[in-house]
Amino acid sequence: MIPVTTSRGTGIFNHGCDWLSQNIRIKCVALPHHNVGEILLSAKRLLLVLGAVAAVTAISLPAAADTAAIVAARSDYFHGLGKSFKGLREELKGSSPDLNLVRKYTGDIAAAAPKLPTQFPAGSGPQPGIKTEARAEIWSDGAKFRQAAAALNTAAQTLNTAAQGSDIGAIRTATDALGQTCKTCHMTFRKEDH
Ligand code: HEC
Repeated sequence: MIPVTTSRGTGIFNHGCDWLSQNIRIKCVALPHHNVGEILLSAKRLLLVLGAVAAVTAISLPAAADTAAIVAARSDYFHGLGKSFKGLREELKGSSPDLNLVRKYTGDIAAAAPKLPTQFPAGSGPQPGIKTEARAEIWSDGAKFRQAAAALNTAAQTLNTAAQGSDIGAIRTATDALGQTCKTCHMTFRKEDH
């Protein structure tokens, strides 16, 4: 128990309140001693709220080791997407592309495209010890990022639909349109534009 003098008189505060007064000084110091019990009660409630906030934060923000794993999985994801896209473009360069192969690539791209947003959970952005080309704007300008991801998905589905036919010109055009969506997003949200 420790006596504390405030503008409203001297009150007896126990150690709990003394400790709390470091954090919520105004509440502790402004009330006379008969309100100590009340202060402790509201402090308890405050701690409960803080605990709940900490729990929610722990769920939504991964720890450093998890972040490295998320970024590694993201890298695999984009390498897969990049490989399919490159293979597709190579195949379409020839005068008589193998349509079965073309459809395999467009099918893989169409399946991967909707998964792009899930590669970027909150907290997996640039930070010390993590090697990533992701820009912080992915999270600070989330609406624009989701729009760029949706543009990729739309282009990927359109391409895959076109590839079910045999109009090579139409498939080439849809492939170029898809490539534009990669570029557009990289320009804004990736550190190097490759
Ligand atoms: C909505 C945004 C967006 C779209 C669309 C997009 N990318 Fe990316 N891409 C990124 C970001 C951000 C990174 C950096 C990720 C990182 O380093 O953590 C990246 C990285 C990459 C990488 C490098 C992966 C690595 O770790 O080295 C390749 C390859 C890639 N993208 C290919 C593509 C291709 C091909 C397309 C289109 C078919 C595409 N991307 C569409 C945002 C996008």
